[in-house]
Amino acid sequence: MADLSVTFCGVKFKNPLVLASGILGITASSWRNVVKNGAGGITTKSLWLEEHRGHPNPVIIANEHYMLNAVGVPDAGVQKAQEECGKYLAWKSSPLIANIIAGRVQDFGKTAEEIAKIKPHIIEVNISCPNVEDEFGKPFACSVGDAAAVTREVKKRVGNIPVVIKLSPNVENIVAIARSVADAGADGVNVMNTIGPGMSINIDTRTPVLANKVGGLSGPALKPLAVKYIADIRRALPKLPIIGTGGVLTGEDAIEMMMVGATLVGVGTGVYYRGPQVFKKITDEMQAWCKKENVKRVRDLIGVFHNGNGRRFEP
Ligand SMILES: Cc1cc2nc3c(=O)[nH]c(=O)nc-3n(C[C@H](O)[C@H](O)[C@H](O)COP(=O)(O)O)c2cc1C
Repeated sequence: MADLSVTFCGVKFKNPLVLASGILGITASSWRNVVKNGAGGITTKSLWLEEHRGHPNPVIIANEHYMLNAVGVPDAGVQKAQEECGKYLAWKSSPLIANIIAGRVQDFGKTAEEIAKIKPHIIEVNISCPNVEDEFGKPFACSVGDAAAVTREVKKRVGNIPVVIKLSPNVENIVAIARSVADAGADGVNVMNTIGPGMSINIDTRTPVLANKVGGLSGPALKPLAVKYIADIRRALPKLPIIGTGGVLTGEDAIEMMMVGATLVGVGTGVYYRGPQVFKKITDEMQAWCKKENVKRVRDLIGVFHNGNGRRFEP
């Protein structure tokens, strides 16, 4: 069996697969189930300082090609999250990535400070949700200045807990945004959040399917974009650790993400397509590929695309 373990921002994961933010409940027991189903770590849904209402139903439409969601990031507030995260951490299970969101730079700082009290392994900062634009305007991830300001604010409030900034594909130059957050002190980046927003029309009722009219696009179609953006960021900033997220359904998808530079691989919509056992299925497929290719340690594949170490990628 290949060794699937990786170290990301100083935190050890038994395998590179992490539950992406916003998928499957926010209770300690649901996270534990995800780990029992084979995930190397979990990411919470985005947590707000105070209670935040999401959008009205219907909030999700899915088919074999894509998912469109306008959940709108509902949350009971950071206090409730502290309880559930605390319970999960007491089990000393796989690492916890606490994902936070806010509408103002100072509120990112306050939320980060609160969530840092329960000592998650990593704090991920969602500056890239395309679903809350009505409330808060363009995501912070769309401007180098705003993205850096949030990063600095969070970094100064969380001590030595690693901070990962979740980037948006809806930008002209994602490498410039990655560089700005790295310069502002980010320990890593997550590439990427949903793309869009997009829209779908029910032609019988002549109205949008989602009550919110528009939603973020996720699922298999995202993967080539994520692969390209991860490759671009890795090439420009080779020392910046990356969580690769977007359309990963199979072991081959996960390995592809790692080859272009991801250390961890987020799985979101894949849970809808292949069920909660998706993590075990993907690690089994990674093992089968490693056996066929005689790869002993999956971490040796990280970024091989760039250095010609992978025999299929000799320049
Ligand atoms: C239903 C749903 C809810 C999501 N909620 C969040 C969220 O709360 N915070 C966040 O940072 N990303 C959220 N995302 C984005 C995912 O974490 C992920 O970045 C994106 O869906 C692309 O990966 P995937 O194709 O594997 O789903 C959500 C995605 C979906 C489908």
